[in-house]
Amino acid sequence: MAKQQQQSQETTPSDHKVIFITGGSSGVGRSAVKLFVSKGHTVVFTGRSSARLEDAIKWIQPSKEERSRLYPLILDQESLESVRNAVTVFKSFNFPSLDILINNAGCSNPTLRYTADSTRVESTIFANTVAPWYLSMLLIPLMHSGSRILFIATGHHDPERKDFMMRMLNNDAILDPDMFNKLDGKENYTAMAYYKISKLAMIWISYVLAKQYPDISVLSACPGFVPETDLGREMPWLMQVIMKNVMHYVIPDAVTAHQSASEYVYYTTSDKLEGVTATFFSHGEIRKSSKRSYNMEEANKFWNLCCEICNTPEHIINL
Ligand SMILES: NC(=O)c1ccc[n+]([C@@H]2O[C@H](COP(=O)([O-])OP(=O)(O)OC[C@H]3O[C@@H](n4cnc5c(N)ncnc54)[C@H](OP(=O)(O)O)[C@@H]3O)[C@@H](O)[C@H]2O)c1
Repeated sequence: MAKQQQQSQETTPSDHKVIFITGGSSGVGRSAVKLFVSKGHTVVFTGRSSARLEDAIKWIQPSKEERSRLYPLILDQESLESVRNAVTVFKSFNFPSLDILINNAGCSNPTLRYTADSTRVESTIFANTVAPWYLSMLLIPLMHSGSRILFIATGHHDPERKDFMMRMLNNDAILDPDMFNKLDGKENYTAMAYYKISKLAMIWISYVLAKQYPDISVLSACPGFVPETDLGREMPWLMQVIMKNVMHYVIPDAVTAHQSASEYVYYTTSDKLEGVTATFFSHGEIRKSSKRSYNMEEANKFWNLCCEICNTPEHIINL
């Protein structure tokens, strides 16, 4: 906790940033919006509905001055059109540049389905990885040397992780050498398996992005186990109650949304991390991501798949 407090004090009031954070309407994202705005930053934050965004503002309880630095924005990551619209609205705010992008929004869809844009990947991979890739590519031209992009993944992308949750989870899909031909989920979809694949792919694109844009710091992180959030909203009712009220007793290193949000502040604003890129973090520390996440052949292949789905041939990498 002392470390968390030290991390969250590392920005100075004179160092105010323009921050774009997705999934700011609930959970860790919402706590991060509250922290960033309390530190004097300007925060554009997204959610899928204006009602959820308004509720988040009520929860944040900003002062009048803080409210003037909060920009709620609609973004549905199951639609490329919605991504484009969000970027258009962001541009209309006329900020001189974008300092920090946090790709935080995430979901785990309970049943197999597809977005209107693609059947090549199922909807969880689309929302958690393809859409953040597209959003990043549209926003990078507004960034500057030293800007940072943070991708919120999960430690559970790593099948070698041996914690309580991992022991309960099946890792066949994420270890499958033929995974690339199964991203549509038709053969073996389960919510958790494809959630993990989406987060592995997210770390892949963070590593490729870091290589493609050496002037920008591209980081990825696991937010820790944060049982109080709405991430399990699609689970059966009883599971949700257990998740929010029991799991933090069972899993000793569970953290609060505020603690996890303090780490977002550290990763994106600390001077100590200036120039650090292509790096994965967990609990505020640099960690190794899974073995497969360093397979750049697969990473580049996934990147090119994003280019194809988003119809951006100019970003294709020659393999
Ligand atoms: N909680 C944990 O233990 C844990 C562990 C590892 C990783 N994570 C990751 O941490 C991040 C934050 O999750 P959280 O726990 O704070 O969950 P949360 O409370 O459910 O918040 C998720 C946020 O993402 C938005 N979102 C969900 N699906 C979306 C979609 N298809 N398009 C656009 N926005 C969407 C939600 O917006 P709406 O309000 O519109 O629904 C909400 O703002 C996620 O990437 C998650 O995978 C969480």
